[in-house]
Amino acid sequence: MAKKIITILGARPQFIKASSVSKSLIDYGLEEIIINTGQHYDYNLSDIFFSELNIPNANYNLNVGSSSHASQTSKIMSLLEPILIDEKPNFVILYGDTNSTLGGALVCAKLHIPIVHIEAGLRSFNKLMPEEINRLITDHVSSILFAPSTESIKNLEKENICVGVYNSGDVMYDIFYRFENSFDLTHKFKNYSLLTLHRAENTFESALKIRLDQIRQIDEQVIFPIHPRTKKIISSLDINIPPNIKLIDPVGWFELMGLIKSANYIFTDSGGMQKEAFWHKKLCYTLRNETEWIETVEQGANFIIKEHDNISLSNDINSNFDNPYGDGNASEKIANFLNKL
Ligand code: UD1
Repeated sequence: MAKKIITILGARPQFIKASSVSKSLIDYGLEEIIINTGQHYDYNLSDIFFSELNIPNANYNLNVGSSSHASQTSKIMSLLEPILIDEKPNFVILYGDTNSTLGGALVCAKLHIPIVHIEAGLRSFNKLMPEEINRLITDHVSSILFAPSTESIKNLEKENICVGVYNSGDVMYDIFYRFENSFDLTHKFKNYSLLTLHRAENTFESALKIRLDQIRQIDEQVIFPIHPRTKKIISSLDINIPPNIKLIDPVGWFELMGLIKSANYIFTDSGGMQKEAFWHKKLCYTLRNETEWIETVEQGANFIIKEHDNISLSNDINSNFDNPYGDGNASEKIANFLNKL
């Protein structure tokens, strides 16, 4: 009998990652049922990715929306449980480190459904981050762990997670590699840098002011596709936007790739954009105290900017970065592996 796979997703980066893996599952003739938790629901954070990246429509939409961590995660759990009991999947695929990942992991673990965790083994070693808690717990209850790099495998080994661990490469690199020649370059901006900022640790009042002041100091015109979380906080607190920043609405993936491609520099607290900058051979300034994507820092392509640091822009771009995140066939490797189970 054909194996039944359930994929649980709900937030922007998961839509992007799933687009590549779902395509490979179809290529291998595997049946996939998609459950969208609805953690992200704005058109520009959700539907746009389903349409532009051809993600199959979700079979279930939980429409959980936004709320506190406990409330959002518990809603996800209580809505998922009856579906998983009813569907009886052979295994469940979870991506990354969001509250949708954690909710899915806890429900599957209690129902004894094997978990396949894609993007396993990432660590910031900062347990104040919600994402660090989500990925730690998910890795510890997963049966099959697809890690994007040798560094992430080492992290798992240090926690005694050694069985069921495979270096698949990064599914986000698959997408970059596949669409490298079709990025949307139709935007009107010239001679600019690009900023994104949405993490919990950067979006309370004092941190947000410090981060915007860091950008105020640099001699660059900066385009900022603003996440709804950051937008709401800026408008509720009446924070002044520095004059060198131009706010735009969040953009789809092809447009974002076009914006990175023609930018001078990237400033971000996003995990995905640190790597996308790296693959675009753009210098990245990561507005955080640490990063999970340590390989990009080691290669001189990514600089950690803590709150007390000034940003000093470098012209020294080494275009011979070594890509530690696979060959662009991670999704195919994952589907091939699952097909043989
Ligand atoms: C989540 C992930 C984060 C990931 C990010 C990608 C967790 C703990 N964090 O953060 O790891 O990098 O997604 O974007 O899961 N909001 C809207 N519309 C939406 C979604 C959110 O207005 O479609 C606003 C709401 O005010 C909400 C806030 O953004 O309260 C935060 O959304 P949430 O999904 O809780 O976390 P993100 O910051 O998006």
